Amino acid sequence: MDTRAAPFPLELTAPGTADVDFSVLLSAAELPVGAMRRVTRGDLDILLVHTPEGVVAVEDRCPHMSAPLSLGELEGSIVGCPLHEGRFDLRTGNPVQMPTTGGLDPDGRYHPTWSPAGREPKTDPPGLKAEARRLTRVRRLRYFPVRIAGERIEVALPPVPRGPAT
Ligand code: FES
Repeated sequence: MDTRAAPFPLELTAPGTADVDFSVLLSAAELPVGAMRRVTRGDLDILLVHTPEGVVAVEDRCPHMSAPLSLGELEGSIVGCPLHEGRFDLRTGNPVQMPTTGGLDPDGRYHPTWSPAGREPKTDPPGLKAEARRLTRVRRLRYFPVRIAGERIEVALPPVPRGPAT
C-alpha cells in the first residue's frame, strides 16, 4: 500500500508551521501501518503515527499533562495515554475518553474523576491538588503538516527556538 498523509482538521495546525521548509523525519519503511515513532528535533518531540487514514504528526505530549503518547497504545486511529487513560482520536484531535483525573474538556466542560471497570474509585481529598486537577483542561491535539515525497516522510516543523546569547 502506498504511504499517504492523513487529512486532519486544518484549524488544529500547530502554530509556526506555515511557510516553513519540510524536514525529513523518517523513511516510509520505518513507519508501517499501525506503528508509532517518536522523533526529536531540538526541544520538540514529534509523534509520527501511521493510522488507517495515513500518516499524522503531532507533538509527543499528551494534551492533558504532557506524558509521551508514544508510550501509549494505538488502536486504529485512537491513541491512548500511558498515564491517566485519556484517549485521543487522531482523525479529529478530540479526546474520546477523558483522563481518570477528570477535569475540563476542550470546550471547558467539567468531568469528574472516574475509574476503569473493576477498579476502586480513587478518593480525591479536597485541596490544591484536587483543584489543579479540576481546572486542568485537556486540549485538542495540534498537527504538524505531513507530506510524503517518494519514500520520505517529511513534516513541517516550527523553527527551533534559540536560547539567549551568552
Ligand atoms: S497525561 Fe495523558 S491522560 Fe493524563
